[in-house]
Amino acid sequence: MKRDEFSGFFGVLVATVGSAVGLGNLWRFPYLVGQNGGAVFIFIYLAFVLVICLPIMISEFIIGRRTLSNTVKAFQILAPRTPWGAVGIVGVVAAFCIMAFYTVVGGWTLDYIFRSVIHLFSKPDITAIESQFTTLVTSPVRPILWTVIFILFSALIVMSGIKKGIEKYSRIMMPFLFLMVVILMIRSITLPGAEKGISFLVKPDFSKINTQVLLAALGQAFFSLSLGMGCMITYGSYIPKRENLTKLAFTTAMSDTLFAILAGLAIMPAVFSFGISPQEGPGLVFIVLPRIFAQIPLGNIFAVMFYLILFIAAITSAISLLEVVTAYITERLKMKRKTAVAIISALVVVCASLSSLSQGVLQDFKILGKTIFDFFDYLSANILLPLGGLSIVFFVGWFMKKSPVYDEFTNQGTLKGTLFRTYYFLIRYVAPIAIAAILVDLIVR
Ligand code: PHE
Repeated sequence: MKRDEFSGFFGVLVATVGSAVGLGNLWRFPYLVGQNGGAVFIFIYLAFVLVICLPIMISEFIIGRRTLSNTVKAFQILAPRTPWGAVGIVGVVAAFCIMAFYTVVGGWTLDYIFRSVIHLFSKPDITAIESQFTTLVTSPVRPILWTVIFILFSALIVMSGIKKGIEKYSRIMMPFLFLMVVILMIRSITLPGAEKGISFLVKPDFSKINTQVLLAALGQAFFSLSLGMGCMITYGSYIPKRENLTKLAFTTAMSDTLFAILAGLAIMPAVFSFGISPQEGPGLVFIVLPRIFAQIPLGNIFAVMFYLILFIAAITSAISLLEVVTAYITERLKMKRKTAVAIISALVVVCASLSSLSQGVLQDFKILGKTIFDFFDYLSANILLPLGGLSIVFFVGWFMKKSPVYDEFTNQGTLKGTLFRTYYFLIRYVAPIAIAAILVDLIVR
């Protein structure tokens, strides 16, 4: 049977952008910008995306499309009888760990949509808003029910396959997402006092640069572009042979960055306009924004819209995580796609329930001093992704021969490949050194 693939440039793009644009852009990026000095963080982030992450994304596409395989098999094909397959396995484990907390946050977005629809025509009670978030995340049953619904949605999409599932739904959701973020941004930048928020985002204060800011920016770039765990290897294996990988990676990285900046512009001006500190942290979109929605004209409608945006962004990323594991299981165990997705989803429900409970009743159960939720988050984003990224650049830059890499980069010599030398230099020297720096920092700290 012919392997499923995306239908063309736009089809691949909506899927890769769908994977990249997620809670990382709308929830993590704005609060990191707030905590790390505003514009200066954005500048560094942009530089890292261009010189480190873009080459890694191209490398992941190359590995995937060269082998037309899931992330584990891909390494085994390119490096038979070596332990390189382990990099793929670690990627599958990372995908699973990310799902275990990502789907919980996905569940919260559903709860917020539900509640903002119910309150669409009533006057929200500002004092109650603060406590709502804590009540939700600490309760034992409600967030788990929403998480299960979220996982169910993701499973149904992935069960339908690449073209008829992932691509089809991304085609519908991504343009809608873009439109909604733009509308929300316009609302935010036209609030009185929004200028302070805008200048916070565009006027860099270079004296704020320190290693912590550098590392936060690099980690965020990895997470936001879905790199270092085989997600882009798996999607790469569904890219038709005629598509230009560099162009795809560039467009994906730029779109993801555009979304992050739009999200910053949708959130920061509102935050400043209401005199709230930008350093609020992870609660920014769940605690601070509802307070703002409660006070602006048509706020109820913008609230529904915002949580719908979060949900769409989260689900198109969740399906890419689920696909990493699904591709591996179906191809490894020769299992039917639907069966594989059902089994994996059931396992995710178990782990996600534990991480949801760890916000409330299981609060005191700690792994290495962290709650289950924080443990999954920390292990995947701070350890597994950078390790995966480092392994991938070593693999493509030093282990693979140059000619297959060049072949895939230029579609067997049919593209000019003017940028190949720059790409190869970045992948061999710049990226490994930069990533090694994060890992060293992690160990010393
Ligand atoms: N990139 C996604 C986001 O920004 C998260 C993600 C990470 C998805 C790794 C897939 C793989 O929310």
